[in-house]
Amino acid sequence: MENFNFYAPTKMMFGRGKAADLPGEMNPFGSRVLLVYGGGSIRKNGIYEAVCGILRDHGFTFFELSGVTPNPKIESVREGVRLARENRVDMVLAVGGGSVMDCAKMVAAGYFYEGDAWDLVMNASLIQKALPVFTIVTMSATGSEMNPTAVISDMKAHIKKGAHSDCLFPKASVLDPGYLYSLPAVQTAAGVADIMSHVFEGYFKKTEDAYVQDKFSEGVLKTCIKWGPVALTEPENYSARANIMWAASMALNGLCGCGKEGKWSCHAIQHQLGAYYDITHGVGLAIITPVWMRYILSEKTVGKFVDYAINVWGFPREEDQFALANMGIDATAQFFADCGLPATLSELGIDDAHFEEMAKAAVPYANLDTEAYVPLNEEDVVNIYRACL
Ligand code: NZQ
Ligand code: ZN
Repeated sequence: MENFNFYAPTKMMFGRGKAADLPGEMNPFGSRVLLVYGGGSIRKNGIYEAVCGILRDHGFTFFELSGVTPNPKIESVREGVRLARENRVDMVLAVGGGSVMDCAKMVAAGYFYEGDAWDLVMNASLIQKALPVFTIVTMSATGSEMNPTAVISDMKAHIKKGAHSDCLFPKASVLDPGYLYSLPAVQTAAGVADIMSHVFEGYFKKTEDAYVQDKFSEGVLKTCIKWGPVALTEPENYSARANIMWAASMALNGLCGCGKEGKWSCHAIQHQLGAYYDITHGVGLAIITPVWMRYILSEKTVGKFVDYAINVWGFPREEDQFALANMGIDATAQFFADCGLPATLSELGIDDAHFEEMAKAAVPYANLDTEAYVPLNEEDVVNIYRACL
């Protein structure tokens, strides 16, 4: 196992009605809040009214940054920084999914930075300070509620990039599984695919003796496989939403991926798609992941895929290692299909027009040619994109 720091300072407030406890966490930081949310889902499902009521009842004054889009854009961050400064807020409260949370985090950091917030995305070491961030989660996928990452896009420059800084950890996050009931099926499914991908990115790594991390990982994957379909057929099943919600936070808070060497592959490949096509993050990952798995299957990696097939999918051990490995990969693709997710980029209207440019950006994004589980050069990445068509 490699050396690592595990740091998870966010207070996680989980369960029915937990938003009511958030003011107790916010109070020490002041009374002026920038409320950040997306395109209106929280107004339709009643969460907006509930949160505003809680803030008012506890004497908070709040200002609003609304309309944060999926794959949040730097323009929203700049607007948020402007509003935060103009109203001299003490903290930022995100109510939404990963996009809203990531935007809120970057606004919190941009508040203290004199230059353009995009500098912070491109060079996270410039993030020295941030306003306190709180989150109320309405979409479970990214784990942003418990991690120090914000992923922001500049569509004009075709750059989608994650920035990491300890300053960006939320102080506290509310996870009320009931807040997920109104999610459209495609978002529920995309969220499950994203959670699974976060685990895969750590599970398929060069380090072989991080046994405890692998057992956590297999548990999170099995949770997605068991409860994802239930959440899809019964959107108001509390147990399903609760297990998926907690799985999302556990998948990307360091627990599953720490102590393992190397960079992520599928996310680097997906982020370039996002930079050109603004597609749903988890949908892109569901398409790329099985293709990537098949592409990297070899004598060197087959043992790990056998572990995956047996420990996650429950296939019986058998002589032919490659057959077993492929059964695990096929099961992954079938699972995403059964969740109603597209299996090809063509279904999203994406052709090969930008594959070369995207591959050129994906390789240095995560040093895929030297630091990936299986090194990938530009040609490999183009091959993977093509196999996704
Ligand atoms: O805009 P609103 O109205 O909020 O609607 C959203 C949006 O259309 C909707 N939604 C959210 N909660 C809902 C709801 N609709 C009905 N009922 C609810 N309760 O769902 C749509 C998608 O929301 P979004 O926040 O974009 O989804 P997600 O949580 O998947 O976030 C995706 C973003 O996070 C980044 C992705 O790249 C992408 O930009 N990631 C962030 C990471 C992190 N911070 O650690 C890591 C991830 O790998 C990922 O890259
Ligand atoms: Zn992701």
